[in-house]
Amino acid sequence: MAKAVRYHKQGGPEVMQYEEVAVGEPGQGQVRIKHTAIGVNFVDTYQRSGLYPMQMPAVAGNEGAGVVEAVGAGVTDLKAGDRIAYTGLPGSYCEQRVVPADRMVKLPQGISEEQAASMMLKGLTVHYLIFSTFKVNKGDTVLWHAAAGGVGLIACQWLRALGVSTIGTAGSPEKMALAKAHGAEHVINYSTDNFVEKVKAITGGKGVPVVYDSVGKTTWEGSLDCLRPRGLIVSFGNASGPVAPVNLGILASKGSLYVTRPTLATHIASRAELVERSNALFEIVKSGKVKIETTAKYKLADAAQAHRDLESRKTTGSVILVP
Ligand SMILES: NC(=O)c1ccc[n+]([C@@H]2O[C@H](COP(=O)([O-])OP(=O)(O)OC[C@H]3O[C@@H](n4cnc5c(N)ncnc54)[C@H](OP(=O)(O)O)[C@@H]3O)[C@@H](O)[C@H]2O)c1
Repeated sequence: MAKAVRYHKQGGPEVMQYEEVAVGEPGQGQVRIKHTAIGVNFVDTYQRSGLYPMQMPAVAGNEGAGVVEAVGAGVTDLKAGDRIAYTGLPGSYCEQRVVPADRMVKLPQGISEEQAASMMLKGLTVHYLIFSTFKVNKGDTVLWHAAAGGVGLIACQWLRALGVSTIGTAGSPEKMALAKAHGAEHVINYSTDNFVEKVKAITGGKGVPVVYDSVGKTTWEGSLDCLRPRGLIVSFGNASGPVAPVNLGILASKGSLYVTRPTLATHIASRAELVERSNALFEIVKSGKVKIETTAKYKLADAAQAHRDLESRKTTGSVILVP
């Protein structure tokens, strides 16, 4: 048995309960792991709230890091004691669990488990967004919403390392300063200022070729107005609520725009892609060009408070739980 944060119905943070769950032994192709750090991500709140469908009861969370405790039959590339991390496996808010071995990534020296839990989901997301969804080039200027958040701070640093100029939005002067310190060349307070006008001014009226929009409902339409003709809006999250149903004609009237709604799961579906993107993330972090700072740590038992803080825009950067 192990402690886990579980919910039996979807709803507010209060539905999460600290309970004992069965762990079991690893079967064919599986390993049992002990978490030492667990990532907190906005998607955890969508699953808990009911925005995304889930089977009940559900252990919260999607990402973790720790140590292999036992390996099942057929597992050859992991052994007890290996340090590992993963993302994309719902049910991570727990002390121990059994997981598929081929979804684990071994942590190299120089990457701590806390760093891994702070960056696997967020950093792999940044990787596919800037190398696959829209391949950024040196000299590009891009718009990134919620630039002081967990995904945002990694994006600002990685884009700076590539010679890309980031216009970052954030909801307070403190968050603007944080985004700037992490590499955003221009910052806009979208709670007080009209971000469309600011983006137009920064780009000499041209607009940007790509907008990375994880805020959703409140920024969608303005984001379209920040694009140059034939630009791409990457709608990859719903922090303010999902985008309302769209008449595709709006893409025509605003200049033959493109839209995509990608997920990390599709971009790490194969083991080869998971490993390739993870290696790229480890390399950029080890180079020091992207620093992973865990900005808030909560006890596993306090996961509900972590969700409250994330959803009320109190947090910046990466948040983790410690069992
Ligand atoms: N599709 C994918 O593959 C994928 C993968 C990872 C993450 N995501 C998405 O990326 C986004 C960032 O994830 P994260 O875990 O790093 O979270 P986060 O950015 O640390 O937190 C979300 C941020 O969104 C901003 N926000 C704007 N309006 C908000 C509102 N009404 N309520 C709450 N927050 C609001 C807040 O920043 P300000 O106060 O500065 O506005 C808040 O800090 C989320 O939307 C997440 O779902 C998508």
